Amino acid sequence: MSGKKAKIELEGKTYELPTFEGSEGEKAVDISSLRNQSGYITYDNGYGNTGSTKSSITFLDGEKGILRYRGYNIDELCEKASFLEVAYLLINKALPTKTQLDAFEKNIKEHTMINEDYKHYFDVWPRSAHPMGILASAISGLAAFYDDCLNPNDQKQAHIATIRLLAKMPTFAAYAYKKSMGQPFIYPKNKLGYCGNFLNMMYSCPTDEYKVDPDMERALNQLLIIHADHEQNCSTSAVKVIGSSQANLFAAVAGGINALWGPLHGGANQAVLEMLEEIHVNGGDVTKYVARAKDKNDSFKLMGFGHRVYKNFDPRATIIKRSCDIILNKMGIHDPLLDIAKKLEEIALKDSYFIEKKLYPNVDFYSGIIYKAMGFPVNMFTVLFSLGRLPGWIAQWKEMIEDPESKIARPRQIYTGEKQRNIVPIMER
Ligand code: CMC
Repeated sequence: MSGKKAKIELEGKTYELPTFEGSEGEKAVDISSLRNQSGYITYDNGYGNTGSTKSSITFLDGEKGILRYRGYNIDELCEKASFLEVAYLLINKALPTKTQLDAFEKNIKEHTMINEDYKHYFDVWPRSAHPMGILASAISGLAAFYDDCLNPNDQKQAHIATIRLLAKMPTFAAYAYKKSMGQPFIYPKNKLGYCGNFLNMMYSCPTDEYKVDPDMERALNQLLIIHADHEQNCSTSAVKVIGSSQANLFAAVAGGINALWGPLHGGANQAVLEMLEEIHVNGGDVTKYVARAKDKNDSFKLMGFGHRVYKNFDPRATIIKRSCDIILNKMGIHDPLLDIAKKLEEIALKDSYFIEKKLYPNVDFYSGIIYKAMGFPVNMFTVLFSLGRLPGWIAQWKEMIEDPESKIARPRQIYTGEKQRNIVPIMER
């Protein structure tokens, strides 16, 4: 606590509330005693002004466009670290030594296969099933499969659940894709790195030799790092709300996957590409779509624009836009959708509607174009976001479970329904 008090006056009485500051100077009023003191609760639709936790994992400053994991800038991590190093950093609070990283990677590789019985799970889905639905149920099902690691308060069990998730999620994701293609599943290859193994499970076929392209592997590594954590976002909050009831980690992460699927959150990367394709098919007139996005009577939104927290620019979008050019050039791809995206960005950024509302391209605006160039079908984009976000979900869940101050998440409400009334017999209604 900072010692400074906030005063709130209600119905002629003054209540004093403690305040405190975070390590980067973020200020908060602790309102947890307000209802007991005054009978009032605070109302904050969508939690835009509510701090649900103290956390030492990720710092972001939406005004300055800063994003750091455990104090390290996202640009530096993208340049110098592997995705598993970042996962280790998020979950274990420090970058690993070489020995620690080797042990972590080895541990994950021991669990990359899924049980042969579990493969039958994929038989029940139609080929058209969305891979996010398949992935969420597969992860949820792990709780029924592995009852030896469900106790969140047992550190050993939490560790093994963590390793199983990191190891098996790429396998489940690739199998969901193979199912949609009607192709045989490709077993994990542990001599490959985390991203290389995933690409091999996605694109390898028994009929042909597949060699992982190092440029693709590097690009995927960077994309996963960019998505690895984003403090108390919608899916992470979902993971924590579920975990706060002491439900197991698999259940909590499955909830996170489902939350991420929504088009206002991770599902936006699929929605952006579909929007760009629609603009392209309809002749490429971006001004028409900008006008639609501004029209109050039209529910159309410019997907990939705007963010609850970033009000200046999204540093993740800057990194992705840069790699988009590099990767497409390297692959010799000219994608008209990239031209449309750039034109859309240029026009929107000069438009007073977008300037006044501080709407900038977010992480999802350019990521789909890279994924597409890498050969991923559109409905796999949000799956890739899930693979990236997994260490963040686990780290945030672990921080909550290990915090002695944690409580079950249980917001209050202001009831606006009917007052008490009596049932009218059915024949008289
Ligand atoms: N196109 C047109 N208008 C927009 C857009 C957009 N993409 N985003 C926000 N606005 C308008 C909105 O209509 C509102 O106008 P008004 O003040 O007149 O009512 C104003 O800007 C404020 O928007 P909001 O929806 O109240 O802001 P929010 O913080 O609740 O929502 C958001 C943030 C990301 C859900 C929203 O900007 C959005 O729907 N964007 C499109 C979907 C998208 O790209 N989502 C990915 C987010 S980044 C990945 C992640 O981390 O999840």
